[in-house]
Amino acid sequence: MKKIENYIAKNINEYNDLYNKSLSNPENFWSEIASTFSWRNKWTKTLEYDFNKPEFKWFLNGKLNITENCLDRHVQSNPNKTAILFEPNDPNQSAQKISYKELHRRVCVFANVLKSKSIKKGDRVCIYMPMVPELTVAVLACARIGAVHSVVFAGFSATALAARIKDSKCKVLLTADGSFRGSKVIDLKSIVDEALLDCNSITSTIVLKRIGSMIKMNINESWWHEEIKNVSDYCIAEEMDSEDMLFILYTSGSTGKPKGMVHSCGGYMVYSSYTFLNVFQYSPNDIYWCTADIGWITGHSYIVYGPLLSGATSVMFEGVPSYPDFSRFWNIVEKHKITHFYTAPTAIRALAKHPISLVESNDLSSLKVLGTVGEPINEEAWNWYDKNVGKSKCPIVDTWWQTETGGIMLSSLAGVTKDKPTYATKPMIGIQPVLMDKDGKEIIEYGKEGILAIKYPWPSIARTIYGNHERYKNVYFTAYPGYYFPGDGALTDSEGNFRITGRVDDVVIVSGHNLGTAPIEDAINLHKNVVESAVVGYPHEIKGNALRAFVILLNNDSNVDMAKEIKDLISKTIGPIAKPDIIQVVPGLPKTRSGKIMRRILRKIASGEKENFGDISTLLNPEIVDKIVKSS
Ligand code: WTA
Repeated sequence: MKKIENYIAKNINEYNDLYNKSLSNPENFWSEIASTFSWRNKWTKTLEYDFNKPEFKWFLNGKLNITENCLDRHVQSNPNKTAILFEPNDPNQSAQKISYKELHRRVCVFANVLKSKSIKKGDRVCIYMPMVPELTVAVLACARIGAVHSVVFAGFSATALAARIKDSKCKVLLTADGSFRGSKVIDLKSIVDEALLDCNSITSTIVLKRIGSMIKMNINESWWHEEIKNVSDYCIAEEMDSEDMLFILYTSGSTGKPKGMVHSCGGYMVYSSYTFLNVFQYSPNDIYWCTADIGWITGHSYIVYGPLLSGATSVMFEGVPSYPDFSRFWNIVEKHKITHFYTAPTAIRALAKHPISLVESNDLSSLKVLGTVGEPINEEAWNWYDKNVGKSKCPIVDTWWQTETGGIMLSSLAGVTKDKPTYATKPMIGIQPVLMDKDGKEIIEYGKEGILAIKYPWPSIARTIYGNHERYKNVYFTAYPGYYFPGDGALTDSEGNFRITGRVDDVVIVSGHNLGTAPIEDAINLHKNVVESAVVGYPHEIKGNALRAFVILLNNDSNVDMAKEIKDLISKTIGPIAKPDIIQVVPGLPKTRSGKIMRRILRKIASGEKENFGDISTLLNPEIVDKIVKSS
């Protein structure tokens, strides 16, 4: 049987060849790739799909457990290889190396703990934890027994956590007493306590001791270290169908309610690993570091699953780039001889603002490949990254993808296909991106701008929105029937390289985090002195975009610091990441005759425009535009 390495493009001709094969006979192609993994039973059919329902099934009736592929395979072939290299927040604490064998043991132990809490295949487990190895253990322990993990980023507030637990009716919550983030200590347990007042589906909570604070344990709550005592490390992996749910991960949308994107076992496994190897060109002795948090899809696919499926060494970093100072990333690169470094443009822009000596005082010669993800990267940041971090010798993979796509969709392959500043460049093998014009027709020529769509299913496309298939259909499959609609605009150059221009809906990407403006408005409107609000994004030098809220108040009492009250309210309902930079009190909002807020105009005002608003005669209240401009 062939190995996956046989299908990794090593030069441009191989990329072209594999790409053509993947398009001319996708089923045959993906069947060959899938055959390189370990399955309990082979699938009977490779793909069944219907864009109208919409329904996507890959590797039908195939049976597997993804953790056997992440762990058991490598325990057989290379047990002592480091799977997770953990770098704690505090640089004075030592790093930890966890081998595949040890990770396997810890996962089996914790899987048995979950079983002792009556967790069975299909049950949902919420994970709200800091970036420590136990988070990876928790994720894989769920997968081991067929429980569905729902990781909630540990920066979310109690209200946001509760909403996610309730939406998917999680039975168990895995958390920690607290977390270290730079010089801050965050009291996670009190956030959990508040969230749980409102969640009756949770029957047990297991708490990892991370900061060692005094906390109160409530009924049905227990300590992680107590639970794992005297538990067997033997746990046979549950047999899963290829289409069984592997995880739910929430992402923001254009309405207030977060969308629980559902990924399934077989297709996600095949695609996350295949893209990891192709994009990063990982070789066995490399040390790969993705700086994302496992609370986001980048952490799921390219810290946990992609690298571990591929038998790689994946670095987990608990801290932040600014602690103890802005040279931390570079210290870590030198210390662990990192070969692959994958981060967000917002981090690059922030680091570029600090003295170059912070970079230059470290030996970065181990680096071979750089990557970016999460938002468009501007040319200046790209050049800074290339010159100062990559020393003009490392390819930069600009990877475009989404929570919904499960894995990278557009990117160069490091050193194999050409990179180009600000361009995500070419489709992954098996992916058929197209640009659509305003009439919903495919733009065939290169060098045009349009709306991005994907033409054919790929193995890791999200299967549904948990509990709301209708919304899944409406958001992703109705704009262009027969295509997947990601919600991004794009253009191509004369060679067919893709450049992402930004969102075309009411989602704003702030510091690489997807924020729907609707949930933020909902939070602002909770304030009893707020009549109505509108939140828009505007360009920001470091964060990519920042948020500005326009708010109509009931009483404009100058003694009350409304901006502070609104920001506090947003922190409490969503989390600090969603706080607008600017809160502007306005006498009214520009509205169409049907009562819809004209966000286009607010976006222009927020970006500093003072007069060119186009045709505003269709507004119900055109005079308001000038008033808002004058009061800003
Ligand atoms: C944006 C993150 C430009 C895009 C993996 C997408 C990007 C959204 C890039 C998904 C990139 C992600 N260039 N824009 N390389 N990568 N985006 O679900 O708007 O958190 O739709 O997944 O981020 O964000 P999500």
